[in-house]
Amino acid sequence: MQPLPGFRDFLPSDCAARNYIFAKWREIARRYGFVEWDGPLLEPTGLYRKKSGDEIVGQLFNFVDKGEREVSLRPELTPTLARVVAAHEREFKKPLKWFSIGQFFRYEKQQRGRLREHFQLNCDIVGEAAPDADVDLLALCIDILRAFGFTEEDFVIRISDREFWTNILRTRKIDPSDWDEILQAIDKSQRERREKTAAKLGELAGPVFKLLDQGGTSEKLDRLVEGLRERGLAQFVSVDVRIVRGLAYYTGIVFEVFDRAGKLRAIAGGGRYDNLIAQLSDNAVSLPALGFAMGDVVLGELINETPGAREKMRYAIAAADKIDIYVVIAKEDRRADALAQIQQLRDLGYRVDYPFGTTKVPKQFQAAEQFGARIAVLYGDEWPQVAVKNLATSEQRLVAREDLLAHLQAQPSLSS
Ligand code: HAM
Repeated sequence: MQPLPGFRDFLPSDCAARNYIFAKWREIARRYGFVEWDGPLLEPTGLYRKKSGDEIVGQLFNFVDKGEREVSLRPELTPTLARVVAAHEREFKKPLKWFSIGQFFRYEKQQRGRLREHFQLNCDIVGEAAPDADVDLLALCIDILRAFGFTEEDFVIRISDREFWTNILRTRKIDPSDWDEILQAIDKSQRERREKTAAKLGELAGPVFKLLDQGGTSEKLDRLVEGLRERGLAQFVSVDVRIVRGLAYYTGIVFEVFDRAGKLRAIAGGGRYDNLIAQLSDNAVSLPALGFAMGDVVLGELINETPGAREKMRYAIAAADKIDIYVVIAKEDRRADALAQIQQLRDLGYRVDYPFGTTKVPKQFQAAEQFGARIAVLYGDEWPQVAVKNLATSEQRLVAREDLLAHLQAQPSLSS
C-alpha cells in the first residue's frame, strides 16, 4: 500500500525536521507578541467559494458528508480566521496578533515544492490599518527566515501594492467586476507565455506589459521600504509590482518570499486583506487585516540546499533527540533494581533508556552511543555499587546505589 499521491509519511527523521521548523516558527512569532490559535480542518465549502478565488476553489479537497453538507479540507487559513474573528472580535482587544501552525490540503498537480498536503505557519494582524503593522509583519517574516540561518544572500521578499494596479484600472475606467480576472492574469504573467496573457488582457495588454517591463512603485511601498531600512532590514526586500498574488481577497500591500537563486517556488506569501472580514460576515464586522503564510515544503528544500542552514538544523535535531542516561543491565539479577532506579530518574525528568531483554554488554554500550546518551549506568557484579561512565570522556567510577542520584544530579553534562 502506498500513500496517496502528494501525501507524505513522516519517519522519525522527517518528524524531527518538522518539529525543528515548528519550534522556530513558534519561537519567533512569540518574540513578536503573537499568540497561537487554530481552527477546524474541515469547513463548509461555501467559505472558500465566497472569496478565496477560482484557483483555490479549483483545488479544493471537497466532498459531501453524511449529513449532506458540502465540506472541504482547509486549503488555507485566512477564510477561517475571518470567520472566527467576525464571531469573536468583541472578546479581544485590537489589534489581534495571532499565529497558527497547521496542515492544509490542496488538490494540486504534484510537483517539486507542491504537494497535496503541507504545513503552514500563518501570522495575521487584525484591526490595525497603520502601515507600521505592515513593517512589523515583514520584519517578523524576515526574522523567522534569519532564525533558520538564512541571510540576504539566500532569500528575498518581493513586495508589491495591488493598488498600483487597481489605480491604473480605475483611471482607465475598467469595470471593477473585471478587476479580479485582470489581476489574476497579471499574477500569472510571469509563469505564462506572453501571447496567453495578452489574450486574457485584451486592449490592456500593451500598457500592462509596458509597466511589467519598466517596473514601478507606490508611496505606500516606498514608506514600507523606509520602515524596514530604519530597522536595518531593507536588504531583504525588493519592490516588484509583478507580484499580484493569486488569492482574490488582497486589497493593498502583497508580498512573496523567494530563494535568491530563483530556483524554487515561493516560500511564503501574504498581504493586506482589509475587506475580507466584512465580506464574509455580510458587513456585520469590518476590520482591516494583514498576514502571511509560510509553507514547510519549500522551506525544507531551501534548508537542505543551504549548507549553513542545513548544518544548524542537523545540530539542533541531534541535540533534541539525545537521551541523558542509558542503563546497562550487565546481570539479569539486577534488572529489578535497575528498573526501580530508572523509574525514579524518569520521574525527575531525565531521558532514560535501557534494553528490554537480555543483551550483551558491548551491544548495550553501542545502543547508549547511538541514542546519544551522555552517561551510562551499569548494574552488574559491583552491586550494591553501580558503575557510572561519562560517555564523552570515558571516565568511569563506582558509586554506592544510595549515592547515585546525588552523583548524577551533580554531573554538569546532565544539567542542560
Ligand atoms: P499561499 O501563497 O497560497 O497563501 O500559501 C502560502 C505558502 O504555503 C506558499 O508560499 C507555499 O510555500 C505554501 N504552499 C501553498 N500551497 C502549497 C502546496 N500545495 N504544497 C506545498 N506548499 C504549499 C495563503 O495560503 C494565504 N492564506 C496566506 C495569508 C495568510 N495571507 C494572509 N494571511
